[in-house]
Amino acid sequence: MESLTIRRPDDWHLHLRDDDMLRAVAPESRDFRRAIIMPNLVPPVVTGAEAAAYRDRVIAAGFAEPLMTLYLTEGTDPADVVAAHAAGIVTAVKLYPAGATTNSASGVRDIEAVRPVLAAMEEARVPLCLHGEVTDREVDIFDREARFLDRVLTPLRAAHPGLKLTLEHVTTTEAVDWVRANPGVGATITVQHLMANRNDMLAGGMRPHFYCLPILKRATHQESLRAAATSGDGPFFLGTDSAPHPTHAKESACCSAGCFTAPHALPLLAHIFEEEGALDRLEAFTSLNGPAHYRLPVNDDTLTLEKGAARTFPERIEAHGQSVTLFDPGHPVHWHVR
Ligand code: NCD
Ligand code: ZN
Repeated sequence: MESLTIRRPDDWHLHLRDDDMLRAVAPESRDFRRAIIMPNLVPPVVTGAEAAAYRDRVIAAGFAEPLMTLYLTEGTDPADVVAAHAAGIVTAVKLYPAGATTNSASGVRDIEAVRPVLAAMEEARVPLCLHGEVTDREVDIFDREARFLDRVLTPLRAAHPGLKLTLEHVTTTEAVDWVRANPGVGATITVQHLMANRNDMLAGGMRPHFYCLPILKRATHQESLRAAATSGDGPFFLGTDSAPHPTHAKESACCSAGCFTAPHALPLLAHIFEEEGALDRLEAFTSLNGPAHYRLPVNDDTLTLEKGAARTFPERIEAHGQSVTLFDPGHPVHWHVR
């Protein structure tokens, strides 16, 4: 049997939610050692004290090494951010443009309002993760990421050249090019954006489990993402953006944004990297580039993937009264985690 052993992966962008949903999904990230945990709870995780309490709930739910984030609001206290980072409670701060995605209403409307926080983070070397989409209603949803690069990210980088940036879940050729042109900036890429494009979501029927934000783009963008991820190059690393929503909220007249990929992310990635003839660069994407970007050690254990008969993944997980449907690529996958 063909097999591939890599250093234990980390997930640099993960949603675990809270309460019963947290208890249902936390064990599903078992293939990963560490994960950056997104703060877009209701209400959001804003202060260092809230992040410390959430971290304890995540660990109690069964995910042992969470790396916590703070949700940047226009009321965020710079001193609290710096203290929480210095104390090791918080790894990064997340900027959501208000209204960009699930639970982003408390996000940033006016970048000037958070200027003191950004300056303090730059000074204290606290990384900033960005949801890179403008939210203006007149901007087409397929153009919102590209517009963000020019309107927000380029001026932000110029104003804060020392601020460590991670552009989350990049989905376009423009974003890949921007990251390559800006050394030191990292970019996470999801499984679904490598696996699928908007035809997979919309042609021959509308598939709610493919709907996430930023929305899947056309195939040419998918190809750019595949090239970036399989290049092995330092700026690009895995952030699954696994974002569980109850099955009834996905299979709905107004479907929630988010794909649930934590349980089977690694078999899906092995499939993609094999298609691209790049299995030897999977480890860089899942296990090496992220730690290098965040200046953390790589994991000291390994994970082995095996190729054999096609496996079917469970259609959904049901636990703690929750039902969450897995992202189904719609074709057989021959890889599994040993
Ligand atoms: C995420 C969620 O559900 O919290 N949804 C998504 O489509 N990716 C939020 C996010 O990361 O944008
Ligand atoms: Zn996300």
